[in-house]
Amino acid sequence: MSTSKPIVIVGGGVIGLATGWTLARAGREVVVFDRGEAGRGTSWLAAGMLAPDAEIGFEEEELYHLSRESLRRWPAFVASLEDEGAQQVDYRTDGTLIVADDRDSAVTLRRLYTFQQEQGLAVDWLTGAEALEIEPFLAPRLAAAVFSSGDHQVDNRRLIGALREAFLRQGGTLHEQTGIRALVPDERRPAVIAEAGARVDAGVVIVAAGVWSRQLEGLEETARPAVRPVKGQMIELRMEAPFGLRHVVRGPQAYLAPKSDGRLLVGATNEEMGFDTRVTAGGLFRLLEGAWEVVPGIYDLPVADTWAGLRPGSRDHAPLLGHAAPGIVLATGHYRHGILLAPVTAQEIALLVLTGETSPWLKPFSPLRFSVHPSIPSPT
Ligand code: GLY
Repeated sequence: MSTSKPIVIVGGGVIGLATGWTLARAGREVVVFDRGEAGRGTSWLAAGMLAPDAEIGFEEEELYHLSRESLRRWPAFVASLEDEGAQQVDYRTDGTLIVADDRDSAVTLRRLYTFQQEQGLAVDWLTGAEALEIEPFLAPRLAAAVFSSGDHQVDNRRLIGALREAFLRQGGTLHEQTGIRALVPDERRPAVIAEAGARVDAGVVIVAAGVWSRQLEGLEETARPAVRPVKGQMIELRMEAPFGLRHVVRGPQAYLAPKSDGRLLVGATNEEMGFDTRVTAGGLFRLLEGAWEVVPGIYDLPVADTWAGLRPGSRDHAPLLGHAAPGIVLATGHYRHGILLAPVTAQEIALLVLTGETSPWLKPFSPLRFSVHPSIPSPT
């Protein structure tokens, strides 16, 4: 890789900014392009849960290990970021309560708990009464709960603010409202072409454009990022005394993530609707009903906002990390886990760019793993 040319990052969300910050800290010239305002896409609309244990999926063991490793790196990541980004990011370690409100959901929860135990996770099975002792705002007659004390959370909006500031303080260059139309793969002189037509030469190009990654022209079909948008509707409530939920609560139909500034995020639907970001009555109804069943005290809280975000889902719902073409590295497809996976992605992608070595953390997530069957089940 040429070191006289900047590292160009397409996409200024949490992954792009964290990777840019890491590379700028290592003394490299980094330029980030964002089609809108940096960090105001999927990263802004997330819930900020850092929950590998609660979100562990059957058959997703490699993703779990990557997620766990990222969580292990979070405290050091936060310490440097809060220092360099000059703001607190509300990193909280209270843990998650996964709750079942009836017998059927208790059976489902038991299966998850058994799987979690087989994987050696530090989780506890609780009766409804025991769960109430940990979190008094839970519904009084829950069937069962699992306490996942190892899961954490962060305020993703503060995180974005801190990353942006830290990146700029390290000398990074940020071009906002500057869409990139195409990638130009080349071993020696990769480049990007801006929507307005300008070509920007790079030492290496990192694609961190989330759901928009697949729209970039210039890659062969087998190398195009296999990501599609998966819509998630959310509701922001304002907590008012005496209501004060402390833990993240995950019910069968909705999760609740309380932030220290009084916001209570209720999420999220999971919809295959392409780039549609309309908030629907049905989506809000399901979320409110699901949240109310497990935390009835939300009934009187004011609604501050509603939105729909687009998660970048790959074919196996694991990220695409590594070389896709000469001079082009992907760091995209983080689906539900972009905030959680930011530290490990940023640090391992930076290592790849700086040394040319693909670390064991990245190997299972090669973007070319789908190239035998390149089509993805979504419109482009
Ligand atoms: N990580 C939570 C969500 O995607 O809704």
